[in-house]
Amino acid sequence: MDEQEFVVTPWEVRGKVDYEKLIRDFGTNPITEDLLERIRKHTHELHPFLRRGAFFSHRDFDWILDKYEVGEKFFLYTGRGPSGHTHLGHLIPWIFTKYLQDKFDAELYFQMTDDEKFLHDPELNLNETTKYAYENALDVIACGFDPKKTFIFLDTEYMKTLYKIAAQFAKHVTFSTVKAAFGFDASTNIGLIFFPSIQAAPCFFPSILKGKNVPCLIPAAIDQSVYWRVARDVAPKLGLYKPAEIHSKFFPSLMRGGKMSASEPETAIFTIDSPKVAKRKIGNAFTGGQPTIKEQREKGGNPDICPIYFYEYFLFDWDDKSLAKTYRSCRDGCLLCGEHKQTLAKSVKSFLTEHQKKREKARDKMENFILRD
Ligand code: TRP
Repeated sequence: MDEQEFVVTPWEVRGKVDYEKLIRDFGTNPITEDLLERIRKHTHELHPFLRRGAFFSHRDFDWILDKYEVGEKFFLYTGRGPSGHTHLGHLIPWIFTKYLQDKFDAELYFQMTDDEKFLHDPELNLNETTKYAYENALDVIACGFDPKKTFIFLDTEYMKTLYKIAAQFAKHVTFSTVKAAFGFDASTNIGLIFFPSIQAAPCFFPSILKGKNVPCLIPAAIDQSVYWRVARDVAPKLGLYKPAEIHSKFFPSLMRGGKMSASEPETAIFTIDSPKVAKRKIGNAFTGGQPTIKEQREKGGNPDICPIYFYEYFLFDWDDKSLAKTYRSCRDGCLLCGEHKQTLAKSVKSFLTEHQKKREKARDKMENFILRD
C-alpha cells in the first residue's frame, strides 16, 4: 500500500491518517477556535484533548450548546465493541466523556455491542463478547462516572427495550443505504445488515423514554461517524432530534503506522497489562529516532511520527511547557529514544497501578451501572 493511502471504516483503520481529509470525506466540521471559546465559557478550563486537538471534528456541537444555553440539557451516548480487553486508546473517548458529564451535568448511556463483535468476527463466540463487555465495563466504571447518571447496557441483555426503537428505525433504512454507507454486499450476514439500527437506537432512547425530544451528544472516534450519518438521516422521519457528535483521532500503535489494535497485542498497552509487560512493549516500540546514538545526537529524532511522543501528547504529559521541552530535546538530539522510553514507562506504570486499583473496586459497583429490562 502507498504510504499516503489510508482506510478508515468502523472495522478497520490502516495507513497514515489524514484528519483534514477525513473531515472533508465524512462531511464533518473542524473544531474551530470560536467553538473552543464557546465551550470554555461553560467549562472554564479546556480539557487537554480539546486544547491539543485529540478531539478535532464535530457535527452540531454548536447546536448542542445553543440548546444547553436555553436550558435544554443534553445526554451523552457512547459505547464499546467488546472484542477484547480495553487498551489505553479506548480510554480516550471515555475520559473525555467523563469530563463532559462533570462539566455539563449530563446523563450517559453506554452501549456494549457484544452482538456486533460476535457478528463481525468469525473467531469470537457470543459468550466471549459478552464476557469482554463486562470486563470492559470495569474500565468504564474505573474512569469515575457518576453511578446515578450513567447507564451501561449490553445489546444481548437489553434487547427488549432496544428492539422496539431499532425496529422503528430500521423501517426507514434500505439495504442500498447501508450497502453504500458500510460497504456491505450480498455476502454480508444479515445480523450485520440490521445492526446499524441497534447502534442508532440509543441516540433516541431517552427521548422515547421521557416522551419528549432530548438532545444527544456522541463522543466517539471518527470511524463511527457513518453510523451517525444514517441515524441523522432517519431521525426527522421519526420526529426526533438528530444526534450531535464530537470526534476523536485514533490513538497510535506502538509499531509503525495504524492505530492500537486489540487483536495485535504488541501494538497496544492494555489496562490489565502489568507495568512490566507495558515496559517491555514500550521498549520494543517503533520510534522517530535514528538507528545509532551518534546519528541521534547529530541529526535529532522526529517526534511527529513517534508513538512514544504521541503517548505523552495524548495521555501522559498534559503540561504544555514540559511537552514542548520534550519535543525540542528530541528534535535537537539531546533526548535519546531509550531515555524517553524509560520516562514513558514510568508514567504508564503509575497510570496502570492507579487504574487497576479502581478497576478492582468497580467489580462491586457493577450492578449500580448496568441497565436491565
Ligand atoms: N461500534 C462501536 C465499536 O465497535 C461500539 C459503539 C456502540 C459505540 N455505540 C457507540 C462507539 C456509540 C461510540 C459511540 O467500538
